Amino acid sequence: MELSVVTGDITAQAVNAIVVNLFEGVDAPGGGTGAVDTAIGGAISSLIADGEIKGRRGEVTVIHTIGDTYAGFAPDRVLVVGLGKSKNFDMDGVRSVSAIVARRLRTLNVESAATIVHGSGIGGLDPEVAAEALAEGAILGLYRFDKYRTSSKPKFDETKPATLVLVSNDSSKIPALEAGVARAQAFAGASISARDMVSEPANVLHPTKLAEIATGIASEGGMAIEVLEKADCEALEMGAYVGVSLGSHQPLKFIHMTYEGDAGNPDNNLWIIGKGITFDSGGISLKGGAGMGAMKGDMSGGAAAIASMQAIATLKPVLNVHMVCAATENMPGGGAQRPGDVVIAMGGKSIEVDNTDAEGRLTLADAIGFAKSNGAKRIVDIATLTGAMVVALGMGHSGAFSNDDELVDQMIAAGHTRGEPIWRMPLDPITKKQNRSDIADLKNTGGRGAGSITAAHFIGEFAGDTPWVHLDIAATNMGRSVHDWEPTGATGVPTRALIQLAMDLGS
Ligand code: BES
Ligand code: MN
Ligand code: ZN
Repeated sequence: MELSVVTGDITAQAVNAIVVNLFEGVDAPGGGTGAVDTAIGGAISSLIADGEIKGRRGEVTVIHTIGDTYAGFAPDRVLVVGLGKSKNFDMDGVRSVSAIVARRLRTLNVESAATIVHGSGIGGLDPEVAAEALAEGAILGLYRFDKYRTSSKPKFDETKPATLVLVSNDSSKIPALEAGVARAQAFAGASISARDMVSEPANVLHPTKLAEIATGIASEGGMAIEVLEKADCEALEMGAYVGVSLGSHQPLKFIHMTYEGDAGNPDNNLWIIGKGITFDSGGISLKGGAGMGAMKGDMSGGAAAIASMQAIATLKPVLNVHMVCAATENMPGGGAQRPGDVVIAMGGKSIEVDNTDAEGRLTLADAIGFAKSNGAKRIVDIATLTGAMVVALGMGHSGAFSNDDELVDQMIAAGHTRGEPIWRMPLDPITKKQNRSDIADLKNTGGRGAGSITAAHFIGEFAGDTPWVHLDIAATNMGRSVHDWEPTGATGVPTRALIQLAMDLGS
């Protein structure tokens, strides 16, 4: 879909459909909606008076204006979208209604549409912010992963709508609207890259493929990338990460990408570390069969990390951003590590592998070790780490664990800005003891209680005093359309929150 911004009269656009809006409780529409109402003989206000149009959030009314029903009015359809109550209206509201309208335009087979900028009138949102949320919602809401359907034809023409024009009658607002749209394209484009990676099946997206995708993103963005092989990781003494890879025929790939936004200040840095298990069978501690296919998404943290770099390279925050993804499969082949094995992580800590299915924390231990040995000043790791996180927070929030109040507050704020909610969880000294081992420095499981917290404590051992946030996205990476701009399947969460954090830190 092509997005553009024009100054002009919304009623005079040469498009197939016009999109206007209405807040709940408004019976005499103003602004662009009022202008369209007048142009089509008061049809909108009379449907309000009749009680058909109520302005409820997400309600879409299609008024057909075909032929010369109304003199001088070219479009064949007017869509009136309800914005709900004006006092609760925010960026998430704009994203939601925009996604709903975009999908409706597709089912209506509309080629071109013009819209007013939801929320920038009586909604009271800054026009730039509103345009950004509108564009993000439309792009994200139209996403589908259909590449493997060859016989069952999609019900709707997925090239529609081909164009969406944001119209403002105030020419002084155009630069702001354009800036908002451009930023939305960077944020949403990255999120879609992450969704594509998560949706790919594990026979296609193995560590080598993930490294190829990362290499493509790095070269497009003019970023440096290095991909370490098993021998390199062994030389760096990454025993925990290498141990996880031993049961797989797919070679591991340790991916490190660098965006240099403040070359003179290497300490002004952020390390984004994503869990990259391209398939998690559990290893020798094999998972049950039910739902195991979802474990193709066990690289969602890595996907978000890699994809965020795509937008960071475009938006250029003044900050150095490093991305690490220690990619591997977790498989039960003959060379696989066993429960009870002891491995040594980079930096020398010994770990008793009590359960080979607690593999994410093992790979993250060495990814963090690598970051610290390269001068990391802030670390954010993102991982589909624990089933316990699904139980604790469900799909409403990603869980955050941190040793640094400031950094975690910034992370939570970034998630809020982008509609990717994050909730802080505790790291208390009581549950920390659950990771004690009888024979090593640490054990990779913490027993029955507080599974997400003990996993986070484990990773925290490797972060040490470096400001660090761990995001457990086990429930938020894939889902059943929690938000209107997240269709069922891979959500891309928290790609946009990560980009926002980098922008906030580097502004
Ligand atoms: N990748 C899983 C966690 C997961 C579960 C993500 C469900 C998404 C949905 C992780 O590697 C895992 O298997 N964790 C174990 C840890 C346990 C063995 C201590 C878990 O949560 O059961
Ligand atoms: Mn596992
Ligand atoms: Zn896993």
